[in-house]
Amino acid sequence: MSGAETMTRPAVLILLGPPGAGKGTQARMLQDRFGLVQLSTGDLLRAAVAAGTEAGKTAKAVMTAGGLVSDDIVLAILKDRLEEPDVAQGVILDGFPRTNVQAEALDKLLAQNGQRVNAAISLEVDDTEMVTRIAGRYTCGNCGEGYHDTFKTPAIIGTCDKCGSTNMVRRADDKAETVGQRLAAYHAQTAPLITYYERQGNLQRIDAMGEIGQVATELSAIVEEAVA
Ligand code: AP5
Repeated sequence: MSGAETMTRPAVLILLGPPGAGKGTQARMLQDRFGLVQLSTGDLLRAAVAAGTEAGKTAKAVMTAGGLVSDDIVLAILKDRLEEPDVAQGVILDGFPRTNVQAEALDKLLAQNGQRVNAAISLEVDDTEMVTRIAGRYTCGNCGEGYHDTFKTPAIIGTCDKCGSTNMVRRADDKAETVGQRLAAYHAQTAPLITYYERQGNLQRIDAMGEIGQVATELSAIVEEAVA
């Protein structure tokens, strides 16, 4: 299928999964295919860090250490973003919620607008694979397209397929010592959300160990059904 499909009503989809599971990669593909807006709290926080805002200054140290930024900061940033007009067509939340407090706050916020979470999709990969994926990851510094040294290389090495930029960047928190902390934070604070959404009857699980295209096909089928 080519081009963006028209959604009949605003959808709210959540991609759950550990660092390196492929949330960003898949969210960008779903955005292109379904016309939804990818909303990554990691990207919003990195933008706040780059802009040098007060929230960004506080978040920077936590992110560098591989911990989770406080719920207050994350929720404030997310609420601001949700007020922008483009999200009315539906969103894919990438990396949010990450704690019970965030999940409950999201449900409350959506209920105020007569909305709900359509589906929370858990991308399941083992810890060894995550480390390999993160170690080889880089991103176009201009448009944000993601790549991997082995698993997803651009047609011309060093040049972005999407925008032609040669400004490729690696994330400061992708160092081996930080990845361990990020994984620990995931298992302690975010993995319990799988049960949270299971109890709501909203959870879908995907084996995300396969190739990017294979995971995308499975994910698209779930999204089509969730937003129908
Ligand atoms: P964030 O930016 O959300 O990072 P993350 O959750 O650690 O996830 P990643 O971006 O590392 O991985 P991904 O699942 O998107 O994988 P990707 O698609 O890039 O958060 C960063 C930090 O911000 C956090 O540590 C925290 O401090 C803070 N933060 C953010 N949100 C927060 C919140 N809500 N609350 C509190 N703090 C928050 O793929 C990885 C690589 O693998 C890529 O190179 C890709 O090409 C490759 N790849 C993808 N899929 C496959 C596949 N199927 N096969 C082979 N390779 C693949």
